[in-house]
Amino acid sequence: MPFIRLDKFISERTEYTRSQIKASASDGKITVDGKIIKKSDFKIDSETADVTICGETVRNQPYRYILMNKPDGYVSSTEDNDGISVLKLVPPEMKTKGLFPAGRLDKDSLGALLITNDGELAHKILSPKNHIPKIYIVKLAKPFQSKYIDLFWKGIVLGDGEVCLPARVKSMKNCDNMAFVELFEGKFHQVKRMFSAVENHVEKLMRISVGGVILPEKLGFGECMELLHKDVENLFSHPDFDRFCDNFFSEFSANPLNK
Ligand code: URA
Repeated sequence: MPFIRLDKFISERTEYTRSQIKASASDGKITVDGKIIKKSDFKIDSETADVTICGETVRNQPYRYILMNKPDGYVSSTEDNDGISVLKLVPPEMKTKGLFPAGRLDKDSLGALLITNDGELAHKILSPKNHIPKIYIVKLAKPFQSKYIDLFWKGIVLGDGEVCLPARVKSMKNCDNMAFVELFEGKFHQVKRMFSAVENHVEKLMRISVGGVILPEKLGFGECMELLHKDVENLFSHPDFDRFCDNFFSEFSANPLNK
């Protein structure tokens, strides 16, 4: 049976810190299977225990939020249909039932991919209604043109007539064929189709951020890290696009698309 400490169980599933849990326990505010437990290092069966803290039930299954730096050649789906699923890259200690990629990156796209078993959160992140910005860097076949800024902001009309929500785009300093793009939605092949609508072509694409969560430079291609509660909350914050682009090279020592 998977016995774990009560404070570990609660902290992995709620916003409470270990010290708050310890204090709540000694105040008699934690119950396990109906009994008050005053020691936060008490061991419980994580599969069956019915735990409450301050009158609220702690859900049994922890949600997992994994940030992957997706490498080229893997598919953002749960099955290996058109290639190997990104789930194959999740290390055993992070694996749990029901994981799926929250959002799509094309097989040849790179970068930030959230993998979770929390369907409600994934829906919130993906719904254009919630305006969660995603920032990409792209390598273009032809130099960036300043007219793209207005065109993207007015809403690009894709080849099939579909109209995109306003998006921001900015060239990368000292690299005339590199750009940053910020989208608030996720249509199929959207960035690639937006640039082909302005007669350019995306050669490489990498997602660098989802909401306020920025892919850390130290996370190599194919690597995963678990997000903490504060990072998960940060998914819903909005970085300032101009500041993000201007500060990009203080976060990243080199252009990740040149690696
Ligand atoms: N836009 C694309 O064209 N491809 C991606 O993978 C993500 C956004």
